[in-house]
Amino acid sequence: MTELNKTAEWAALASHWSEVEPLQMRDLFRENPERSEQMSIRQCGILLDYSKNRATQKTLNLLLGLANAADVDGWRRRMFAGERINNTENRAVLHVALRNRSNRPIWFDGEDVMPGVNEALNKMESFSNDVRSGQWKGFTGKAITDVVNIGIGGSNLGPLMACEALKHYQDPKLRLHFVSNVDSTHLLETVKGLNPETTLFIVASKTFTTQETLTNALTARAWLLDTLTDEKAVARHFVAVSTNAEQVTKFGIDTDNMFEFWDWVGGRYSLWSAIGLPIAIAIGMSGFYEMLQGAHEMDEHFLHADLSENMPVIMALLGIWYVDFAQARTQAILPYDQYLRYLPDYLQQADMESNGKRVTRFGRPVEYATGPVIWGTAGTDGQHAFYQLIHQGTQMIPCDFIIPINSHNESGDHQQILFANCLAQTEALMKGKTRKEARQEMEAAGLDAEQIVDLLPHKIFPGNKPTNTLLIDRVTPGRLGSLIALYEHKIFVQGAIWRVNSFDQWGVELGKQLAGVILEELLDEEKSNSHDASTQGLISYYRHHRKK
Ligand code: F6P
Repeated sequence: MTELNKTAEWAALASHWSEVEPLQMRDLFRENPERSEQMSIRQCGILLDYSKNRATQKTLNLLLGLANAADVDGWRRRMFAGERINNTENRAVLHVALRNRSNRPIWFDGEDVMPGVNEALNKMESFSNDVRSGQWKGFTGKAITDVVNIGIGGSNLGPLMACEALKHYQDPKLRLHFVSNVDSTHLLETVKGLNPETTLFIVASKTFTTQETLTNALTARAWLLDTLTDEKAVARHFVAVSTNAEQVTKFGIDTDNMFEFWDWVGGRYSLWSAIGLPIAIAIGMSGFYEMLQGAHEMDEHFLHADLSENMPVIMALLGIWYVDFAQARTQAILPYDQYLRYLPDYLQQADMESNGKRVTRFGRPVEYATGPVIWGTAGTDGQHAFYQLIHQGTQMIPCDFIIPINSHNESGDHQQILFANCLAQTEALMKGKTRKEARQEMEAAGLDAEQIVDLLPHKIFPGNKPTNTLLIDRVTPGRLGSLIALYEHKIFVQGAIWRVNSFDQWGVELGKQLAGVILEELLDEEKSNSHDASTQGLISYYRHHRKK
């Protein structure tokens, strides 16, 4: 198979970049009044305006040529058909089945997975109803007031992000907390002030072998038993979400209190499964179903729409355009909504753990850049922190601006100010400010000639910075579901084109292995000193100062 970067489609794009590089978006808008209309897609309650990109119709055609050559159509069909496309773990990738609200059969190894999916949803529904209504009692007969999710990575970020995003729909009497970091401060600060009699812990771990989660869960158990003293209390205050019944039992949680999912659900794609239990408890199962429905609508769009009108595909292709042909190395996710403040963190794992790969799915080193660094923050805060670099720094940073038109918390003119700021940024990034405009502005402000000469270079904005704008009506469970599914499929398409396996994460293993070795050595001075001088020196320093 020809290397991706040796294909005709790749070569055409590489030479096309030299045609596009000198073009100014402000000229493209002037030359084509239809540009915004032509470069927008409306789907699943989301308006994607991708017209503020350094791309022409020819660019899109060439990118679509690349997608066709990569058989994106075949890949999307294979994923939905339950093929084992996660080749290094020999697993299917079927998070779409978890939100398949049409309930049409989805086959995996000759078996329809939908009855199992529906059964798991029913169990979640009945449990979340019981907790919400107060029917589920703690060991001393009191209703639950606080739910603490203990998990990390995909077993934390999804529910954390969604519970925050949908806080408006929560019953304030039931508080949700999230503990992920193995730093005991995280757990102990979280449980400070909580009443063990009314606290429920959800231990969420796909593998149920993750050191951080198990360490936190054991400490939480000890905290609980410190007050409730009887081991039997654990059954009323601990439930588990996992694929590993054996380890759950070993830990001491009754499998009756276990919510199962399957190895064909990747950790970072798991908030649609029982890993979403905190979301169901927070907003009720009807809200959770709405979220699944929104994601399902995006799945249908992704699976059936022509690639040229396909929202995830277009976003994926523009991403590849910048990473591989314009050498952009990062991408900012900028939600203009406080409720979406954890979305950049969530997408960071979704994207970077999926496409942060250096070999193809066949094990050959890639000869081109793959996943970019994903980062960002919510609302106008970023404007007063890092936007300077996006406007006038030396790197190209493509940005996604995401904003609802309506706020759940309308108050005075806050929403208009927020919206105006969001659009102003995308406009400023696109248009920039020319030398002439900057000079005129300073002249109008009465600056003298010498001051103008000195300040002019600083006042010029090169502009031509690419952005997508995504508008939604409001942050609802349904729209959140569509939005997350949009990014999941974007990541999938990019992985298919880059020829990487987006569903494994071997890169996190080495650190875990070495942590195990170092842990033993921190505790025992007799253990071998097999490290490099730096690591060994740091271990000795630690031992010495811990003793003191
Ligand atoms: O960091 C690696 C990872 O395996 C992630 O992919 C996963 O989301 C996280 O650890 C947690 O894993 P688990 O749910 O098995 O505890």
